[in-house]
Amino acid sequence: MPAAPPTTTPASHNRPTGLARPPADQPVHRKGRPPGATEAFALGSFLARWSSVTVHDLSASESATMTLPTLLAMAQPDDAARWAALGLDYSHPRGASWLRAEIATRYRALDPDNIVCCAGAQEAITCVAGAILDPGDHAIVVLPIYQPSEWAVTSVCAATGIALRHRGRWRLDIDRLAAAIRRETRLVLINFPNSPTGAQIDPDSLAALIALCRHYGLWLANDEVYRMTTLDPTLDPLPIAALYERGISVNSLSKGHGLAGLRTGWIACQDRVLLAKVLLAKSGLSSCVAAPNEVLAHIALRAEAPIVARNRGIAQANLDLLQACLTRHSQIFELTQPNNLAFYAPRTRLAADAADLATRLAGAAGVLVLPWTLWRSPLAELATDRLRIGLGTPAMAPALAALDDYLVRHVTPAEAHPW
Ligand SMILES: Cc1ncc(COP(=O)(O)O)c(C=O)c1O
Repeated sequence: MPAAPPTTTPASHNRPTGLARPPADQPVHRKGRPPGATEAFALGSFLARWSSVTVHDLSASESATMTLPTLLAMAQPDDAARWAALGLDYSHPRGASWLRAEIATRYRALDPDNIVCCAGAQEAITCVAGAILDPGDHAIVVLPIYQPSEWAVTSVCAATGIALRHRGRWRLDIDRLAAAIRRETRLVLINFPNSPTGAQIDPDSLAALIALCRHYGLWLANDEVYRMTTLDPTLDPLPIAALYERGISVNSLSKGHGLAGLRTGWIACQDRVLLAKVLLAKSGLSSCVAAPNEVLAHIALRAEAPIVARNRGIAQANLDLLQACLTRHSQIFELTQPNNLAFYAPRTRLAADAADLATRLAGAAGVLVLPWTLWRSPLAELATDRLRIGLGTPAMAPALAALDDYLVRHVTPAEAHPW
């Protein structure tokens, strides 16, 4: 067994006092049965239904992957030696020190003890929720968000959803978020860069959000898995763990690195007492990252620049092809501002919601794309008129040929919404 994690309890969670209850128009999910018990994982069910019968997969948000020999060929001599001598014992519960040291260089002023490695970003978010939240607590979830992340919160405690504003190019409404804070609120969970909107948080909103969380002593966890694929990385803020003493950055190698199969993610946080609780939550899940994956993750992180540059190049070329294709069908699609190289999100002009079009494309054209209906949440109303089309595939051209052919033959402008 891996060494047992320390069982330290945080001294205080700075419980805010005297806060108003949320206004009646903000839906609050009460703790009870996890939504998963009554509601399917919509994205997972859609993929299970269609992925085996479609030929062209544009559903993924992860970058083009690589083979094991290609990754191993990038190993520096010490990693090559680690790989050759690898034992298959349990690894360290926090992650190997050399892996955490490499990860820590991505966060200003953090060191390896500020990092806990996990089996992907999803386990990391589950551990964060488990470490912070108790059944009587309340959390705020900014939507849309990956459904399992929402469940990580709502399966433990009550939650209020704050949807990004449609007409504000997916800006976060800080006033609405502030109004949702209650005496029991412990955590604000965000996902910037966001899926499926691609939106990045603007510097003013981020500063205001941090100030708000600091004022009320709230933890602020950001799922940052789409950082490597933002359109213009020079505009990105620093990771939340570098900016706020109660900021928690979650990331993984799944998206921009194209290494989802390594199941290697992490949590970065300035607060080591919180990380001790995270470790306790993780001991009931994976316990430790698989030993071979730690070495492979280390190789990939040290070779991050060429890996990410190659993946961004593929995605940019795919985005150009996709936009050219959709421009030919402007009676069906309204092109939107691209925000992230992991996926593109055109709005459909059809009267039926995007689920109808996505189902037709999967069933009749063999093209798998994701309708935004898959991000539905009981916590807030979200837009349903867009598709999320992944940009990581090395086979975009044949997929677009099939898409183009179907649209020409089977989708008529008469189906368009009479705007
Ligand atoms: C926003 C977001 N967070 C987390 C995950 C899960 O990441 P991982 O594969 O690293 O667990 C996904 C996967 O699609 C995602 O879209």
